[in-house]
Amino acid sequence: MTQDEKFAWISGPMAIPIGDTKKPEGALGSAAYYPAIPRLGIPAQQQSDASLGVGNLGGVRPGDNATALPSSLLLGAAFDPEGARETGALVGQEARAKGFTVQLAGGANLIREPRGGRNFEYVSEDPLLTGIIAGNSVAGIQSQGVVATVKHFAVNAQETGRVLVSSDLSPAAMHESDLLAFKIAIEIGQPGAVMPGYNLVNGHWASENAYLINTVLKGEWRYPGWVMSDWGAVHSTVKAALAGLDVQSGANLDPDPYFGAPLQAAVAAGKVPQTRIDDMVRRQLRSLYAVGVIDNPPQPGAPIDYMAHRLVAQRAAERGLVLLKNEGDALPLAKGAKRILVIGRRADVGVLAGGGSSAVTPVGSLETEGMSFMGTEMKKVYHPSSPLNAIRAEANAAQVDFLDGTDRSAAITAARKADIVVIFAEEWRSEGLDMQGLGLPDDQDALIDGVAGANAKTIVVLESGGPVAMPWLANVPAVIAAFYPGSGGGEAIAGVLFGRVNPSGHLPITFPASVAQLPHPDQRDPETTTSNPGLKPKGGVFHVDYDVEGSDVGYRWYARQGLTPLFPFGHGLSYTSFRHGDLSVQADKGSITAVFTVANTGARAGAAVPQLYVARPGKGGFVTRLAGFDRVDLAPAARERIEVRIDPRLLARYDATARLWRIAAGTYEVRLANDAADPGIKATLELPAATFGP
Ligand code: NOJ
Repeated sequence: MTQDEKFAWISGPMAIPIGDTKKPEGALGSAAYYPAIPRLGIPAQQQSDASLGVGNLGGVRPGDNATALPSSLLLGAAFDPEGARETGALVGQEARAKGFTVQLAGGANLIREPRGGRNFEYVSEDPLLTGIIAGNSVAGIQSQGVVATVKHFAVNAQETGRVLVSSDLSPAAMHESDLLAFKIAIEIGQPGAVMPGYNLVNGHWASENAYLINTVLKGEWRYPGWVMSDWGAVHSTVKAALAGLDVQSGANLDPDPYFGAPLQAAVAAGKVPQTRIDDMVRRQLRSLYAVGVIDNPPQPGAPIDYMAHRLVAQRAAERGLVLLKNEGDALPLAKGAKRILVIGRRADVGVLAGGGSSAVTPVGSLETEGMSFMGTEMKKVYHPSSPLNAIRAEANAAQVDFLDGTDRSAAITAARKADIVVIFAEEWRSEGLDMQGLGLPDDQDALIDGVAGANAKTIVVLESGGPVAMPWLANVPAVIAAFYPGSGGGEAIAGVLFGRVNPSGHLPITFPASVAQLPHPDQRDPETTTSNPGLKPKGGVFHVDYDVEGSDVGYRWYARQGLTPLFPFGHGLSYTSFRHGDLSVQADKGSITAVFTVANTGARAGAAVPQLYVARPGKGGFVTRLAGFDRVDLAPAARERIEVRIDPRLLARYDATARLWRIAAGTYEVRLANDAADPGIKATLELPAATFGP
């Protein structure tokens, strides 16, 4: 490649019309475009967002259809690696058929902040679950010959002040938590690219953080792919280039063309070696070759079977929906109940979707007023999967009425006359905007309270981007957490309501009892700490001390502090019951295996999600950690013997001085449980001291 050809691949604008920038010629109109080099047989790089399906942000490609997957939280809730691979393959297939070669998909951040605006793009608060699900999504995408991108490396935990916030966390804790999630995702998925976040980590922006990129990712982990910045997240030329950043993405959002003329000048002045430039390009080509893009480039215009894909999305949602409460077997609803009242803002039209660059807007979506985002208007989107219609289809001849709930007294009056009320509560989250507190917006708590007071059979379905408070919980018999369920979400919810689907999702995040329980209860004012790329920030760099909880993220924090949350991590009910038994754990030449049985003791077929937690009490020990899980379909009365390998990193502490993992000799507790707070059944494991790396 000539020097010009190389430089054309190490920085580029966002490839949509934005501000003064026009869509580059040849670009499909998406997140990024890097030109083909026909003389070398190298196709163009067409990159699009794809956290939750192939993104079609901003209607830049009018009429462009896409399948909206359930939010990553729902994929996390399914505890289903094969399912994540299947939905990943769907994304890869749609991407390829549209002509994309690189997908910005593979959210592997740990959810440290339950109010985080982008939590719906992430899998969970646990490193093992996050790593396994994100890694399988990546593997699925790449199985279709399209590169996937793990992001946002690392500790990118909040949106408030997102380009000014420094996530401060000691290296040992980081390796045991956020970095472990990324490491597992990378091991499983072997993503072609990695994207650092907007934030700083320990005082250095992630895009120029030599520790994260050079020392850990490319050095100790020997990561062979390329590191592309987030859009408008670069802050320097020489520092970033020498820290290991390979591409300045969305360069038109940065104040300077750092990896353009300034980088050429830095090379000429000997401040950045030419070998670094060559490495930036070689890493991209390596990954494109590795997944087959160069030998078999995509042919845009290939047919996509959206009906079949919608069903794949629906099945994924059905595996993830979490039945939080079901008092007196209020669910499933009897088919043919006489009068059902459905209440919910847009439950007649569709299911809520999260906002931001990950947005997927299938044809037929309802777009309502949202917010201003990176200088452009971001719509609040409802995916075209009407819960009302789906309920009518499943309910079988019952009368099903609908109210949007904006008139509270009308809703309460109608609730009195109904046999059953299903109320859809919604909480919209978006990239760029954290929730303030945990409460449902727009007085929905009062609506639920009023309706529940009028009708004891009030079922609540929550469409949210994370945990919410439920002050009305004691007054309703049943609650379903649907998060943002995607293209087939309405049908999936109706399936659970009427028992066509036996719920099997388990919470991938703790639902706190109150904000006071959180490690960081106080929030910054989003008005005075606004910072979005391309916009003038308000306020300077500020620090969040994540060493408060360290690696004890989510349920581990609750265990450490002795707190009882509203619903623990891992919680999820079924219409059948399961029994765990015969737990034993063996260590053999560094390989640790748990063996146990799971039996379906109820009358319905269902999927069990047995969870293994490990702990080591005492000094140098650790509080409970998810060390393994399985998902197993069981017919009534069926019983299965299950073997789960335990990753030794989950029994170890990270030694940041020696840069390796250490297992201390001693007794470890292994618990087979239904959730993080369940005493379950226990076994112990004796381990000799051991070290391993990196
Ligand atoms: C910003 C987001 O943080 C990132 O996830 C996304 O891939 C890029 N924008 C491109 O749209």
